[in-house]
Amino acid sequence: MAANWKMYKNAQETSAFFEQFTPLMSDGIHCEVVIFPASISIPGAVQAAEESAIRIGGQNIFWAREGAYTGEISGEMLRAAGATWVLVGHSERREYFHETDSGVLKKTQAAIEAHLTPIVCMGERLEDHKNGRAEEVLIRQFAGGIAGLTEEQFADIAIAYEPVWAIGTGQTATPEIAAKAHRCIRSETEKRFGREAAEQVRILYGGSVKPDNIVGLMHEQEIDGALVGGASLDPQTFIKIVNAA
Ligand code: PGA
Repeated sequence: MAANWKMYKNAQETSAFFEQFTPLMSDGIHCEVVIFPASISIPGAVQAAEESAIRIGGQNIFWAREGAYTGEISGEMLRAAGATWVLVGHSERREYFHETDSGVLKKTQAAIEAHLTPIVCMGERLEDHKNGRAEEVLIRQFAGGIAGLTEEQFADIAIAYEPVWAIGTGQTATPEIAAKAHRCIRSETEKRFGREAAEQVRILYGGSVKPDNIVGLMHEQEIDGALVGGASLDPQTFIKIVNAA
């Protein structure tokens, strides 16, 4: 269960979240929980989560190890700050920062090299959803991006299916729609990386996940977890989602 905080919560608000959330997690942990705060709050989050099973990740990474790239953060820097996961290719990054499938591949490779687990995001826009072209988009994003990994590299990633029309809109994909998209991603995985890789790769669903729709989504065998935005900002709400896993 992953919490994508996007550009919400400063360092103080991050500490306040952990103060409330960490005790709620103490009842034994049945799934992996990863929180992706703003990069400036990663060290504080790592410290706050130290005694818990919660892991911390970055929301973005740059592909070079170091260099003259003003404003960017490398995988090595994230790792040194205590992060162990990273989001790659979120639709907001694709839309506002012009990230492409080939850039997503480079960032995924950089993450693996820095020993971070990347969650590679993909998903179709509203227009493609309406026109029945969701699978076409997923196949294209897969082919232009993570299909370029080696089999060994692919074993180290997780994938998030995030239909753009469901993100922050309150209009979640039905479990059936999500499962169908996940099957498509798994089938592309099987063609490129083999059956075992397709069975083992974890595919999370993201897009308006809430306590009242998580149970239905997690009932689908195809759905291995969730990437949660808005509903992860409140400790009481996010713990309900975690507990439904
Ligand atoms: P949302 O965001 O849960 O607020 O729809 C999900 C995401 O963008 O990862």
